Amino acid sequence: MELEDYWFLLQPFYAFFGLIMIFFFFIIIFLFPGFFSNLLWCNCEICHTYLTSSWTKDFDNLCDWYAYLLQNSPTKTIHIHVLGNIITANPDNVEYILKTRFENYPKGKPFSLILGDFLGRGIFNVDGDLWRFQNTMASLELNKYSIRSYAFEIVNYEIQHRLVTFLSSVAGKEYEVLDLQEVFRRFSFESICKISFGLDPMCLGLSLPMSEFAVSFDLASKLSAQRAMAVSPLVWKIKRLLNLGTEKRLKQAINVINILAKQVIIQRREMGFSTHKDLLSRFMSTVNDDIYLRDIVISVILAGRDTVASALTSFFLLLANHPDVESAIQLEAERVISPNQELTSFEQLKHLHYLQAAVYESMRLYPPIQFDSKFCQQDDVLPDGTVVKKGTRVTYHPYAMGRMKEIWGSDCLEFKPERWLKGGVFYPENPFKYPVFQAGLRVCLGKEMALMELKSVAISLLRRFHIQLVTPCCSPQFSPGLTATFSCGLQVKVREIKGKQNPPPLSPQS
Ligand code: HEM
Repeated sequence: MELEDYWFLLQPFYAFFGLIMIFFFFIIIFLFPGFFSNLLWCNCEICHTYLTSSWTKDFDNLCDWYAYLLQNSPTKTIHIHVLGNIITANPDNVEYILKTRFENYPKGKPFSLILGDFLGRGIFNVDGDLWRFQNTMASLELNKYSIRSYAFEIVNYEIQHRLVTFLSSVAGKEYEVLDLQEVFRRFSFESICKISFGLDPMCLGLSLPMSEFAVSFDLASKLSAQRAMAVSPLVWKIKRLLNLGTEKRLKQAINVINILAKQVIIQRREMGFSTHKDLLSRFMSTVNDDIYLRDIVISVILAGRDTVASALTSFFLLLANHPDVESAIQLEAERVISPNQELTSFEQLKHLHYLQAAVYESMRLYPPIQFDSKFCQQDDVLPDGTVVKKGTRVTYHPYAMGRMKEIWGSDCLEFKPERWLKGGVFYPENPFKYPVFQAGLRVCLGKEMALMELKSVAISLLRRFHIQLVTPCCSPQFSPGLTATFSCGLQVKVREIKGKQNPPPLSPQS
């Protein structure tokens, strides 16, 4: 028998607790009437539409409704009073928050509490000195040429000997429908585990079970994101205190992650880490605290797994609807890499300008992280004149920004890689107009690694397979979570292009 089986015994406690809450609630209303009239009883059109969920009549996704509101706002900034959230798609505001007044817009305590059990003191969940230390260390490591070429070797091994082999095994089978999103999630999990730990979870192949680590990781990130959706943090805090429901499951998932992460760290130490090239071994030579090491590695996996899978899924959705772009990528590859050769070096990728443009353009329309929030430390005024009170959540919204006429022109909803090219050469935009990798002082440290992974997968699959959607789809629906995920996956059929053979089997890397 567990605590939940006796929950009825707790009912008097809940009733008593409820009365106390109501009492305090009225005291707070009495003390801060102005604050509460805004927060709870705001009846402006936006708040009313939000509270009644009536936006769902016109939009599939919350991010599409926000994009519509932001497009129609003269300042490109809106305020959802009931959420205490200012949302902006104005590049000047984004630069101000992420660079000019960086210190005034940290991640803040509300989020670090929500994600604290899962991410601990990992880079995604800290500010100040703890962040500065990890940022310096991680950028030194991730920017090294040696780690990039090590990552390139791993990613290409994974592509040629796992991804391509798996897709070849299902290609051409008439009734075989594949969820490409699930395939990419498994691929990116294997790749980032190998790069971060030097560990192979062996889960690429839908008949293979997803590793226990990956399943617990998914659950922990989903349940942590759900905490953020609770009406008040008190709800999850009480459930955590009593070890009930989702909080009990979250605790169990985190326990599995902790046990497995600990085993990996011990194993690495026993094997000797000084000669290994994976990230964990590199961090181990500077950090001695095993809990801290666990937190650092968990954050890197979170950073590098779902983001890459999300970017690949939307890229292949767009290509399925734009065969002209697919052909242009194939033509460029024939020119830069000899027709029957696979990618052999990191350097070759640099010459694929059109491919780079297509990848950037795809993430403009479907950024893997659709929005990101900070918490204002001291009262402030944004460049567009928006007043921000201390403690307000301020969100910049890359998804909406990718759909702004003022930033991208009247063809902003079209998928046009050419907008990133000048004389055939890739030309990046101002990062504050395109904060897909964030921008300013806290910019993504794995950007180059991510681009290498995206381009390597794209080029290898497009030269070998025809990938066709099972049902036509132009505007996907997203599931709620930390990273953009299509709620129905990406159902495709795969056919091998004639004349392409599987690569000869290589012995797996240690
Ligand atoms: C398409 C793929 C990716 C996208 C779109 C992306 C985007 C982002 C964004 C928006 C942030 C800021 C998040 C925040 O502060 O809450 C971030 C941070 C970060 N990313 Fe990425 N990322 C990608 C892939 C990767 C990969 C593959 C790695 C590493 C292996 C990585 C490592 C990091 C790290 C370490 C940070 C924390 C930077 C800091 O706080 O100083 N990312 N990324």
